[in-house]
Amino acid sequence: MESILITGGAGYIGSHIVEKLVKTNNKIIILDNLITGYKKLINKKAIFIKGDIKNYKKLLNIVKKYKINSIIHLAAYLNISEAEKNKKKYYLNNVVGTLNIIKCCKNESVKNIVFSSSCSIYGNVKGSVNEKKRASPKGYYAFTKLKGEQIIKKYSKKFNYNYAILRYFNIAGASSTKKIGEINSSHGHLFKNIAIQSLKKNPKINIYGNNYNTKDGTCIRDYMHVTDLSVTHIKALEYINNNSKSITLNCGYGKGYSVLDIVKIFKKIKKNLTINIAAKRKGDVESVYADTGKFKKILKIKMKYNNINTILKSSIKWECILKNRKYPIN
Ligand SMILES: NC(=O)c1ccc[n+]([C@@H]2O[C@H](COP(=O)([O-])OP(=O)(O)OC[C@H]3O[C@@H](n4cnc5c(N)ncnc54)[C@H](O)[C@@H]3O)[C@@H](O)[C@H]2O)c1
Repeated sequence: MESILITGGAGYIGSHIVEKLVKTNNKIIILDNLITGYKKLINKKAIFIKGDIKNYKKLLNIVKKYKINSIIHLAAYLNISEAEKNKKKYYLNNVVGTLNIIKCCKNESVKNIVFSSSCSIYGNVKGSVNEKKRASPKGYYAFTKLKGEQIIKKYSKKFNYNYAILRYFNIAGASSTKKIGEINSSHGHLFKNIAIQSLKKNPKINIYGNNYNTKDGTCIRDYMHVTDLSVTHIKALEYINNNSKSITLNCGYGKGYSVLDIVKIFKKIKKNLTINIAAKRKGDVESVYADTGKFKKILKIKMKYNNINTILKSSIKWECILKNRKYPIN
């Protein structure tokens, strides 16, 4: 039995990973300060510690006490617009917090680190992007994610751990167990906004910018279901542990949808949807979707939810559960 620490395990993606992890024969410890996480997302089969990754002493105590073998590090702030306005806050949490975690690996039992990175580190890309593309973050949030990657890579040999850097594209949907899903609506995620609007009598959706250099002027993204992403974490951790190797992988399905594509699918469900074109958001990139060649070659996972309608319905269904409403809507 191994001990796995998961930072941010009370959050949206973290709780889905924990749901899978508790089914393995390992001890699962969650560290989360609940700043955007929720008690109701905490899996009862895991040990929960309320705490902050900015607190190095506390982190080190946890690593020692539970003889942590692997860390899945998700704890971060992730609101793109807020990051531009409050850089220090993001630097302290996302960069210094990551550095604290790495410092805890020195002379300790930690063998593996899995890190939540983001496709935003690539900046503007035309078409699909593979992991060899030079990073060129456009916004401050993306910059903090790239810094996190660099810190993890820098100390890997020195502190003797393997890493899996997972560059998520856009994550949406919810667990089919109906127990967990995205609650926090402050991150400005399109699918969450749509899910919220799906329960309104007069739904409205903002599209941030319609004069990007894309097929319909709106941003292009690659959306992946959170359950497929969770399985990816388990497989990536197994891979680096079994092979004593480090990897950097794109996590997406390899298909780009414009924001307008998604909104149009939603409009088929909610015919009275009002679409509002708002100003571009600083830090948003124009178009990015994954080249999944390396991911497929290394992890060989069969994706279960690779369908945009399934993802949208999954997000809406969760919103209904959260608000105790019946599904389907209308
Ligand atoms: N959601 C996406 O589409 C997406 C895309 C790319 C990358 N990511 C990355 O995935 C990770 C998880 O994102 P999420 O969507 O689940 O967001 P989330 O806000 O639901 O989860 C983040 C969790 O981290 C916790 N946290 C934040 N700062 C902390 C700190 N200092 N100490 C302890 N806990 C702290 C929060 O309370 C929350 O539970 C983040 O690192 C994010 O950058 C997410």
